[in-house]
Amino acid sequence: MSTPHVPVLAGELIELLSPSAGQTAVDCTVGAAGHARLVGERLGAGGTLIGIDRDPLGEQRFAELAEELDAATRFIRGDFVTALEQLRDEQAAPDLIYMDLGMSSMQIDTWERGFSYSYDAPLDMRMDPDQALTAAEIVNTWDERRLVSLLREYGEERFAPQIVRALSRERKRAPLRSTQELVDVIKSAIPIPAQFGGGHPAKRTFQALRIAVNDELAQIDAALPLAWELLAPGGKLAVISFHSLEDRRVKRFLAQLARGCICPPEIPICVCGHEPEAELLSRRAIAPTPGEVAANPRSRSAHLRAARKLR
Ligand SMILES: C[S@@+](CC[C@H](N)C(=O)[O-])C[C@H]1O[C@@H](n2cnc3c(N)ncnc32)[C@H](O)[C@@H]1O
Repeated sequence: MSTPHVPVLAGELIELLSPSAGQTAVDCTVGAAGHARLVGERLGAGGTLIGIDRDPLGEQRFAELAEELDAATRFIRGDFVTALEQLRDEQAAPDLIYMDLGMSSMQIDTWERGFSYSYDAPLDMRMDPDQALTAAEIVNTWDERRLVSLLREYGEERFAPQIVRALSRERKRAPLRSTQELVDVIKSAIPIPAQFGGGHPAKRTFQALRIAVNDELAQIDAALPLAWELLAPGGKLAVISFHSLEDRRVKRFLAQLARGCICPPEIPICVCGHEPEAELLSRRAIAPTPGEVAANPRSRSAHLRAARKLR
């Protein structure tokens, strides 16, 4: 069953960014263009909305939206690091840049893309279908040590060694091809009592594989400083993340920009004269209301952080 697309933390994002007529905004993760629509409508005829997505589905949705907007529009197909580099080379200075990380409901619901453990599909998980690396390649060719650290680091999977041992046995017989073959291997490796209460037993492995296939964390680490550099003074950066590996990166990055004094703690009086580069737009990450979580369970783990560039 397909879930209709509902943009996550949409009201909160709009309130923090407060897009206004004539501004230029960059949506780094267009997806189903839900946020892009809300932002784009507020930019008016004098404004510009730039959309980025590595998935052609995002390009399609952006093209449909562009027809309806008064603002000028432009789409860059590719990963957001390359796209932001391109904008930097063009000396763009947008007022607003935002990212809604991870995969879209469209990607999850297009069963043959292999993002979901609920459908039987090829082990794919690529956001960009033109990319070479797939989940099947990782599962069938990476050595056991690398797979264990992948599941531990990106999936926080405590049964990583057991899963990788089972996987290794299975792939010696025949390479794994489908999501359900992988789900069966995972279920065979996790003790039955541990399969209840912590979400679907394959959830953490699928998260780890998806992050690796799409190089998601390296993308975030490279995109945040690029986006910050691009922003016009007074411009705003906002990021919605869906798990702690993402949110931690955003939190650290913004906190470091918002720091004033950087003198060592043993110096009693500030001598560095360091000025903050950012004003945090909320003290803590903004989470969805219980009402939003009830209406859109996908929003459950969302965290929104945003900052304004001071200089
Ligand atoms: C959570 S969805 C965005 C949903 C969107 N905000 C909306 O309202 O419909 C994330 C989208 O960003 C894209 N994406 C994720 N990481 C990306 C990256 N590093 N570069 C480009 N696109 C990326 C995915 O392909 C997906 O379409």
